[in-house]
Amino acid sequence: MPGINVTPCTFALFGALGDLALRKLFPALYHLDHAGLLHEDTVIFALAREPRDPQEHLDFIEQTLRRYVGESGIEEDCMRRFMARMSYLTMDFKKPDDYAALGAQASTRQPVVAYFATPASVYGAICENLATHGLAERTRVVLEKPIGHDLASSRLVNDAVARYFPETSIYRIDHYLGKETVQNLIALRFANSLFETQWDHNHISHVEITVAETVGIEGRWGYFDQAGQLRDMIQNHLLQLLCLIAMDPPADLSADSIRDEKVKVLKALAPFSVDELSRHLVRGQYSAGNINGKTVPGYLDEEGANVESNTETFVALRADIRNWRWSGVPFYLRTGKRLAQKMSQIVIHFKEPPFYIFAPEQRSQVSNRLILRLQPDEGISLQVMTKEPGLGMHLRSGPLQLNFSDAYKNARVPDAYERLLLEVMQGNQSLFVRKDEVEAAWLWCDRLMAGWNALGETPKRYSAGSWGPAASIALITRDGRSWYGDL
Ligand code: BG6
Repeated sequence: MPGINVTPCTFALFGALGDLALRKLFPALYHLDHAGLLHEDTVIFALAREPRDPQEHLDFIEQTLRRYVGESGIEEDCMRRFMARMSYLTMDFKKPDDYAALGAQASTRQPVVAYFATPASVYGAICENLATHGLAERTRVVLEKPIGHDLASSRLVNDAVARYFPETSIYRIDHYLGKETVQNLIALRFANSLFETQWDHNHISHVEITVAETVGIEGRWGYFDQAGQLRDMIQNHLLQLLCLIAMDPPADLSADSIRDEKVKVLKALAPFSVDELSRHLVRGQYSAGNINGKTVPGYLDEEGANVESNTETFVALRADIRNWRWSGVPFYLRTGKRLAQKMSQIVIHFKEPPFYIFAPEQRSQVSNRLILRLQPDEGISLQVMTKEPGLGMHLRSGPLQLNFSDAYKNARVPDAYERLLLEVMQGNQSLFVRKDEVEAAWLWCDRLMAGWNALGETPKRYSAGSWGPAASIALITRDGRSWYGDL
């Protein structure tokens, strides 16, 4: 594949029997192998606490892999090759002695990628034990979110890791940065002069970012209730998307150039005054409702729920960026569980033409929009005004469309984790989040949370299967706008 240099590594997956590893990481590694992107000398260590015969665990991993990849994606030769790379080691991640086997078996000639698919509370112990067994120098560590639940706790996690690893060896995952359309956003913005010259407050009126899910809490009530939608989605995924839209062109595509620009955006996010908090922020919690024709329980009726919980499962907010480029351009962010549709999209609304020469009654539909769909059906569409065929001058708004799955028919759109794992193996940090980014995002979110705690408002109820609380619609209509595409 052009530009991809396949180098060998030792891939150590901590938490190998967990949901993330089984659902996402093994399938991603398998697809990389299938695409010829795992070097023949690359080996995989599946590491977990569970004892029993290692072969039983490997058989279980293979079975779940087949399920998640799907029979049509499995090629038996590749599956044999892939499983032959893998060994299972039983380890208590906190016990130094348990690292001896890994230390002895990991080749000294290749880099180690240590992926922590574990709670952040054990990151420090894993790092210390890797260092004790002489693995620190050649290891890249990959940290899954959540990294802390506020600025102070994220610093504790980051400091525990930094005691043994320099920032250049730390890869903080935000899987949204590996999504195809997010990558395309960078190409679109910086490989086309067409957009970049229009990319500011002179030409853009507002921006929407929606990440809507139909799923509920999926057996994660305990974790989710401690976090809530602001920590789980806004602090990371939505703010990263906002940064990629709002950042200035980086000097080059190097990790630090991109991350320097993103940090500037995060630092320019305006804090909310008390008055703005109640107008520009809406928290919601779903009650029972209907998703795709099926009745689903409310958040407080989910398994394991504490019926008094005030944790939000929905957030809509208006963010303002205080800098030269974006002054006066609101960014409306919205994300929630159990919404009407699974749909993630970014909509850039351009301003109306400065002077209107067509019939006044056609004016309502004049602004151009650039729509970047992350899921489902990744694609980009630019809404432009054209003339309807026939006599007279009737305008219509229609899309100039690029649907990746149609346009590149035989090309499989890789999962975000495939791209990210490949980048770690190649030692490229551009798609990973630097410590100062995590901290700047937490600082802004901490202030928000402190503000709403002071307000003492409980989240507004919304029915599962709707687009969230009515207040989230009012939040944008108050500014004379509406959420794009809500049915
Ligand atoms: C995770 C969140 O980071 O992202 C989950 O913890 C959420 O709550 C998930 O469901 C959404 O990811 P995707 O790729 O399905 O949009």
